[in-house]
Amino acid sequence: MNNFMFYSPTEFVFGKETELQTGALVKKFHGTKALIVFGGGSVLRSGLLERVKESLDKEGIAHVEMGGVQPNPTDPKVYEGIGLGRREKVDFLLPVGGGSVIDTAKAIAAGIPYDGDFWDFFTGKAVPEKALRIGVVLTIPAAGSEGSGNSVITKTDGLKKLSLRTPEVLRPAFAVMNPELTYTLPAWQTASGITDMMAHIMERYFTNTADTEVTDRLCEGTLKAIIKEALTVIKEPENYGARANIMWAGTIAHNGICGVGCEEDWASHFMEHEVSALYDVTHGAGLAVIFPAWLTYMADHNVRKVAQFANRVWDVPASEDKKAMALEGVARMKAFLHEIGMPTTFRELGIENPDISALVCRLHENKGEFVGNYVKLDRQATRQIYETAN
Ligand code: NZQ
Ligand code: ZN
Repeated sequence: MNNFMFYSPTEFVFGKETELQTGALVKKFHGTKALIVFGGGSVLRSGLLERVKESLDKEGIAHVEMGGVQPNPTDPKVYEGIGLGRREKVDFLLPVGGGSVIDTAKAIAAGIPYDGDFWDFFTGKAVPEKALRIGVVLTIPAAGSEGSGNSVITKTDGLKKLSLRTPEVLRPAFAVMNPELTYTLPAWQTASGITDMMAHIMERYFTNTADTEVTDRLCEGTLKAIIKEALTVIKEPENYGARANIMWAGTIAHNGICGVGCEEDWASHFMEHEVSALYDVTHGAGLAVIFPAWLTYMADHNVRKVAQFANRVWDVPASEDKKAMALEGVARMKAFLHEIGMPTTFRELGIENPDISALVCRLHENKGEFVGNYVKLDRQATRQIYETAN
């Protein structure tokens, strides 16, 4: 196990009607005027936005709002939010929604006190040293942004989808998580979210770091719980217990605890970000296509942990033939993804002829000549994985 520092100070307030505590939580973290950020309208239709505003009013917290954030969020909304936040002199960011809304709010929170262009943080030209405080009201378990210090934004000009990781500055102060708020999720979004959280665990699980027994078991156990509950929420969208377990799993998957002491991988995420940048697909569905192809490649190039994954997560019997075990694990994972309604090929994702050369080229342009750590992938390797996914 490697040396590590793990600091995850977000206060998670979990359960029924917890959104009514939002105003008190903003106050607790010294907010006096909040910029509420939301998406395309689900929070208006469900009445959640009204309830959140009432709870702010009750505590005397002033607020302004910006809606219209789209999935795979882009930079114009960030600039709009920075302008609005500065004009209105807000001191708190309150995203009400999913990863796209939260990530937009995080970029705004870092952008408001910064003199330059917020995009500098995503290109690595600058590192955010401070940000406005952020509190989250989560409506979809998926990206894990409620407990992460990351933000992922696409620059419209050039379609560059880049991520920023600064936990010490961008981790939300609190996250309100009411599983009942997720009852209205379309099955596609539920399943995409489930795939994304599984991928967040797998990006950490597939490591060459030795002696990670606790982390391994945490990853495997959480994955098994997700698989079990996923089959229930897809059939019974209003099953509170299953929704609650899935919601909490989404946070555990990405707040860092599943990766402590390990060198993490992240190649599949970077490969998917190119797909969603170019074709605007749902992030989790893109991962359902990329991850099985990545695992198939690993069965030939670093089979050890893939065989362990097959055995411990997918109940493939142990045998001498590790590659056969690994491939049977991939087959079982694909069958599960199909069962929850996910695609596992580009065609099933709705992309008939993906421009693989462009994907490979953009990936290495953005992420360097080698991507990932479990096996460091060059252009030939990433091309092979994209082709396997086709
Ligand atoms: O916009 P509205 O109308 O709210 O509808 C949303 C949106 O269309 C809908 N939705 C959300 N909650 C709902 C609901 N519909 C009905 N009832 C509800 N309760 O779901 C759609 C998807 O929302 P989005 O926020 O895009 O989903 P998600 O949380 O999956 O976020 C995806 C984004 O996060 C990034 C992804 O790349 C993608 O851009 N990621 C962010 C990460 C992070 N910050 O740590 C890590 C991830 O790996 C990921 O890359
Ligand atoms: Zn993800």
